[in-house]
Amino acid sequence: MLYRLIRPAIFALDAERAHRLTVAALKFWSPPAPDFVAGPLATRVAGLHFPNPVGMAAGFDKDAEVPDALLALGFGFAEVGSITPQPQPGNPRPRLFRLAEDEAVINRMGFNNGGCAAAMQNLAARPRKGILGINVGANKDSADRVADYAHMTRAMAPLADYLVVNISSPNTPGLRALQDEAALVGLLDAVLEARGESAGADRSHLPPIFLKVAPDLEPADVDAISRIAIDKALGALVVSNTTIARPPLNSAHAGEAGGLSGAPLKGPALERLRDFRKATGGAIPLVGVGGIATAEDAFARIRAGASLVQLYSAMIYAGPGIARDITAGLELLMRQYGFGSIAEAVGTE
Ligand SMILES: Cc1cc2nc3c(=O)[nH]c(=O)nc-3n(C[C@H](O)[C@H](O)[C@H](O)COP(=O)(O)O)c2cc1C
Repeated sequence: MLYRLIRPAIFALDAERAHRLTVAALKFWSPPAPDFVAGPLATRVAGLHFPNPVGMAAGFDKDAEVPDALLALGFGFAEVGSITPQPQPGNPRPRLFRLAEDEAVINRMGFNNGGCAAAMQNLAARPRKGILGINVGANKDSADRVADYAHMTRAMAPLADYLVVNISSPNTPGLRALQDEAALVGLLDAVLEARGESAGADRSHLPPIFLKVAPDLEPADVDAISRIAIDKALGALVVSNTTIARPPLNSAHAGEAGGLSGAPLKGPALERLRDFRKATGGAIPLVGVGGIATAEDAFARIRAGASLVQLYSAMIYAGPGIARDITAGLELLMRQYGFGSIAEAVGTE
């Protein structure tokens, strides 16, 4: 309600400036990480206990500045990043566009972030409470991108509840080629080896590795990625990142280059999730993301095979109460459909 009142003022600002102000406000608020409450939406995925299945997607908190504030807003988990080994400025501005008429966003940020050391410092003082995902990427001008992912895995594994290998950003040229079969096997082998090294003698803390994929994949890619993910015993597949496709749009910024997210991604991301559910046969958990804005959207994604869901763009339009709205609605839907738990509802479509 309050957000609806102040939204015009926020939308009068340049989108990236509005985002910086939002993160600054959350930082100022700086609530403590909430305690785990095993309520009706609690669920266990990849060996981790989530208080609810609705998470904040990567890209909102690129430098791991406010994960606890996101958890305090009611998200069941917070994914920070993408973080690269070296700091990098990203693409020239403007590079973030609201498509209000389409409830969508186009971004070509290009992995702007403060780098590995800055993120580690931000997370150093954090109590280990609540589920923190750390999403890692490669520097744009890196000579060895696989080495970048290995480096990030080694550095972040001790701080993360799960790690996400993001090879699906459309804004780092050539990055998505790592989704190709041979490249992907080599990359995941390097990441898994780096994770083992990071643990040292302490094998008790090996965060599961999630892989985040693009929605713009052919059926053969879906099959190959599914096979590899199962073979490498990944913790989950995150389906999906933003799309380079351009369905019909109504906003002035529709022609901007970059990745499209929000409402127009809902259908394609749901379809891709179904493809992955079919290809994996439920052998590996899926995280559904792309265009989720309501409890009905989240529930549909869960019934299509997602054990967890995430969102980002919808928060721009609905405000910071969105996690609580969706979780409240999910509870009702579960009861209405007679499911005793989220896990019971997964893949029942
Ligand atoms: C401004 C912006 C920045 C993003 N940055 C990242 C990123 O750094 N790493 C990543 O894996 N995904 C990133 N994403 C993708 C989101 O995590 C998510 O996959 C995508 O936006 C679809 O979800 P949505 O429709 O709920 O926004 C970004 C999205 C937006 C809108």
